Amino acid sequence: MDRIRIVGGGKLNGTIPISGAKNAALPLMIASLLTPETLILENVPRLSDVRMLKRILGNHGVDVTVNGKRPGDAATDGEVVKLNAAEIVDTTAPYELVSQMRASFWVIGPLIARMGEAKVSLPGGCAIGTRPVDLLIMALERLGVAIDIEGGYVIARAPKGLRGGEIVFPKVTVGGTHTALMAAVLAQGTTLIRNAAREPEVTDLAECLVKMGARIKGIGTSELEIEGVARLGGARHRVLPDRIEAGTYAFATAMAGGDVQLQGVQPHLLQAALDKLAEAGAEVTPNNEGIRIRRNGAGIAPVDMTTEAFPGFPTDLQAQFMALMTRAGGTSRITETIFENRFMHVQELARFGARIRLEGDAAIVEGTETLKGAPVMATDLRASVSLVIAALAAEGETMINRVYHLDRGFEALETKLGACGAAIERIRA
Ligand code: EPZ
Repeated sequence: MDRIRIVGGGKLNGTIPISGAKNAALPLMIASLLTPETLILENVPRLSDVRMLKRILGNHGVDVTVNGKRPGDAATDGEVVKLNAAEIVDTTAPYELVSQMRASFWVIGPLIARMGEAKVSLPGGCAIGTRPVDLLIMALERLGVAIDIEGGYVIARAPKGLRGGEIVFPKVTVGGTHTALMAAVLAQGTTLIRNAAREPEVTDLAECLVKMGARIKGIGTSELEIEGVARLGGARHRVLPDRIEAGTYAFATAMAGGDVQLQGVQPHLLQAALDKLAEAGAEVTPNNEGIRIRRNGAGIAPVDMTTEAFPGFPTDLQAQFMALMTRAGGTSRITETIFENRFMHVQELARFGARIRLEGDAAIVEGTETLKGAPVMATDLRASVSLVIAALAAEGETMINRVYHLDRGFEALETKLGACGAAIERIRA
């Protein structure tokens, strides 16, 4: 297994190109199941989760081709992926595949909408909590789908097709909204989704569906109205920039000190995180090309933070923010409201000498001037990158084990940080 070695203490200076968003690319790729025509996605990040989903879609009969690099393309441009589901050969998503990547459960929406049947393995819990799919199932039932659960599989049937209905989510769910959208676009009649997730990745999916011929009103709001159509066509769509990757490097810059331009990201995608960063003492300057982050001289101020659904502070940046707060000049309180168990990084951050105690859904972080490098272990994607942030500011050497978690969601992490002066290297197994 690969490891990453970091020697902390240096500042970060330079430019980091922001990749396409993993959490937009995945549902967009799944949307290709809705049409027999070709969906072309640009700026798809090179990540192991994307590679995994290509395999999963291939299993359903989707023909996936990737355009090679053309002259003039920047090294950091994402892939152009063409997906064609002219014929769906299998409506079953097996346990062996779904258990490796939760988002693949979302194939249930387009499969039932287009084929009238789907058999999809329940994904099971994961490192950040139990993560049930009851709301996704509820949404499909509201569209007239009959659901049975047998042998660990959700069996969905709608032999006469789906019909529009009203879906009221009792809590905001990104996956629930993706699934409801992808099912409702091909249902007969009108669907109302209330308390829909407003995450930019949901908006990106909705905009792509509209290009494919879907009729959706209220995009970007918590009330979506979908008028079903009989058939969707092909489209070309560019995956939006990854706000979580951008936020991660913004916190890394504030942690290490220095001056970094985050190229290609739009500030409105991560305003809540940028506001907290400014409160913590970093200079945050939006410009035409992205966002510039600077911290020179001034220390890090302690800031309380609570995760919320968009446009609030994203849970996917909670671990990274906690890493930053371990070096603040005082105590901060970090409250996690989205997932019940997303604090695995606390024990690993403690290995650097961080002082953090848990109180129910909150972590109390007492900042300390000095962190010390240590061998640590990645437990999930965002937790792992919080260890990278801590390591950048820690004295001495850190060795991060189980790097495959990082590879699921951060494209070329060591190249991007290395280009800004970080002493970071991958040690291949
Ligand atoms: C998406 O997960 C993201 N994954 C997650 O990013 C992100 O943390 C999460 O949204 C919240 O923003 C992808 O986009 C691939 P939810 P999702 O449904 O859709 C509960 C990362 O690191 N819930 O919005 O699975 C659920 O348990 C990942 O990139 C139910 O109770 O999250 C949670 O408490 C990790 N029943 C809350 O809702 C359901 O049926 C929000 O979950 C569904 C969800």
